[in-house]
Formats: sequence, structure tokens, C-alpha cells
Amino acid sequence: MKNHVLRPLWLAIGLVLLIMVARHFMVPEDFGVHGDSFTYNYYRLSNVDEWKDFPVKYQGRERCSKCHEENFESISHSRHKKIQCENCHGPAAGHPREVKQLVIDRSREQCLRCHALLDYPNSRRGMMKGVVSEKHKRKFECSKCHNPHNPNLEDR
Ligand code: HEC
Ligand code: HEC
Ligand code: HEC
Ligand code: HEC
Repeated sequence: MKNHVLRPLWLAIGLVLLIMVARHFMVPEDFGVHGDSFTYNYYRLSNVDEWKDFPVKYQGRERCSKCHEENFESISHSRHKKIQCENCHGPAAGHPREVKQLVIDRSREQCLRCHALLDYPNSRRGMMKGVVSEKHKRKFECSKCHNPHNPNLEDR
């Protein structure tokens, strides 16, 4: 065979060998020992324990109810009953022991995340009560007039 054919051939064979050697040293020992039925065996077993140690940031509203009973009660019977406390107050991991206070964000943007009027006639988001920020009492924070834990237009 001619040189210009042989050289790239050796190069290709060399590359494949190199990858095989590298793979031998780099793939962790517990990779692919889980059995074929599990993600086609494309899986590292010790990854399970790594995720078990992953700190959970969100606690869920049931936990809040133990100490903030009043807010929990009022929101549970309001139009906001579906919204998790941590949606507005941020993740509560470590609260109240290490993190004494959670964020209280009174900005208009906080509420406009959900209440900016959007014209999506066929979606549930479009059906939600919304306001055009520039036209709706724009000098004040929303919570001056609407109780975030019990927004109720009848009281207005
Ligand atoms: C074991 C009791 C306990 C639990 C559970 C708890 N909190 Fe608290 N929280 C406290 C205490 C104590 C404070 C400090 C109160 C203070 O300084 O007036 C506080 C403060 C806060 C504040 C700030 C109040 C302020 O006036 O600045 C917010 C917001 C808050 N918690 C939200 C939550 C949310 C949301 C949850 C659930 C994810 C939660 N808390 C779970 C005890 C608790
Ligand atoms: C829609 C956003 C929103 C949700 C959901 C929400 N909050 Fe609040 N929260 C606020 C805002 C805004 C304030 C500040 C209200 C004010 O200053 O009038 C506040 C104030 C507070 C305070 C301090 C003042 C007080 O009332 O004691 C606590 C504690 C609190 N929230 C706990 C909770 C808990 C517990 C939940 C869930 C059961 C919850 N919040 C759900 C927006 C929210
Ligand atoms: C995570 C999304 C979300 C956030 C953030 C949120 N809301 Fe709501 N809000 C809702 C949903 C869902 C409803 C109930 C559906 C509806 O009435 O259109 C609602 C209903 C309302 C209503 C109408 C109540 C009625 O009687 O019809 C008012 C007023 C309101 N929210 C004010 C606020 C204010 C003020 C804030 C900020 C403190 C806020 N919302 C933050 C989702 C949200
Ligand atoms: C000065 C008091 C005041 C402030 C501040 C205020 N609102 Fe209102 N809001 C009202 C009143 C009164 C109504 C009922 C009459 C109307 O629609 O104007 C209302 C109505 C609403 C409605 C229902 C609209 C509908 O189609 O029925 C929503 C949603 C709402 N507000 C959200 C907000 C949000 C979000 C903010 C902050 C960005 C905010 N409001 C700030 C007084 C206020």
C-alpha cells in the first residue's frame, strides 16, 4: 500500500487504541454495574448516594403552618391557596434555626410575575386576573391595598 494511505490508517488505529486505554482509566469502577434494565446500564451507582446528600432547599407549606399558623390559615382559604409560601418568600432550608428571617419582597414586580395582564385568550394564564402595571395604582406597592395572604376583591 502507498504511504499516503498507510499513514492515516495508522493514525486512526492509534487514536482508537488511545481512546480505549483512556477509557479504561477514566470510567469509574461502579459505572454500568446496575443491570441492563436500568437506563441501559448507562449509569454510575454511587451517583444515587450523591443525590441523597443533596440539600433540599424547599420545605413545603405544611412545615410553615406549624409556626405561622395565621398566615397559613388565611392563605389556605383564599384565592392564593394554590401558591406555595416559598414561591414568594424564597427557599426556606435552615429556617428558622440558621436563617432567622426569610425574604419579604414587597415590590410590584413580585406580584406582576403572575398578574401582569397577558392576552392569551386560550390559556389559563390569559384567564387569570391581571393588571397593566403602568395604569394600576402605580405609585404604591400592591400589598398596600391587597393582602398577599388573602387577596380579595370584594373588600376593595
Ligand atoms: C419552627 C418554627 C418556624 C417554621 C417551621 C417556619 N418559620 Fe418562619 N419564622 C419563624 C420565626 C421564629 C421567625 C422570626 C419571627 C420574628 O422575628 O418576628 C420567622 C420569620 C419568618 C419570616 C419573616 C417575618 C418578618 O416579619 O420579617 C417569614 C417571611 C417567614 N418566617 C416565612 C416562613 C415560611 C414561608 C416558612 C415555611 C417554608 C416558615 N417561615 C417556617 C419560625 C418558623
Ligand atoms: C403571593 C406572595 C406570597 C405568598 C404566597 C405568601 N406570602 Fe407571606 N408575605 C408576602 C408579602 C408581600 C408580605 C409583606 C406583607 C406586608 O407588608 O403587608 C408577606 C409577609 C409575611 C410575613 C411577615 C408579616 C406577617 O404577616 O406576619 C410572614 C411571617 C409570612 N409572610 C409568611 C408566609 C407564609 C407562612 C406563607 C404560606 C402559608 C406565605 N407567607 C405566603 C407575600 C406572600
Ligand atoms: C405564583 C403566582 C402568583 C403570585 C406571585 C401572586 N398571585 Fe395573586 N393570584 C394568583 C392566582 C392563581 C389567583 C387566583 C386566580 C384568579 O383569581 O385569577 C390570584 C388572585 C389574586 C387576586 C384576585 C382575588 C379575587 O378576589 O379575585 C388579587 C387581587 C391578587 N391575586 C393579588 C396579588 C398580589 C398583591 C400579589 C403580590 C403580593 C400576588 N397576587 C402574587 C397567582 C399569583
Ligand atoms: C391603591 C390601592 C391598590 C394598589 C396599590 C394595587 N391595587 Fe390592585 N386593585 C385595587 C382595587 C380598588 C381593585 C378593584 C377595582 C379595579 O379594578 O380598579 C384592584 C383590582 C386588582 C385586580 C383584579 C383586576 C380585575 O380584572 O378584576 C388585580 C389582579 C390586582 N388589583 C392586582 C394588583 C397588583 C398586582 C398590584 C401591584 C402591581 C396592585 N393590584 C396594586 C387597588 C389597588
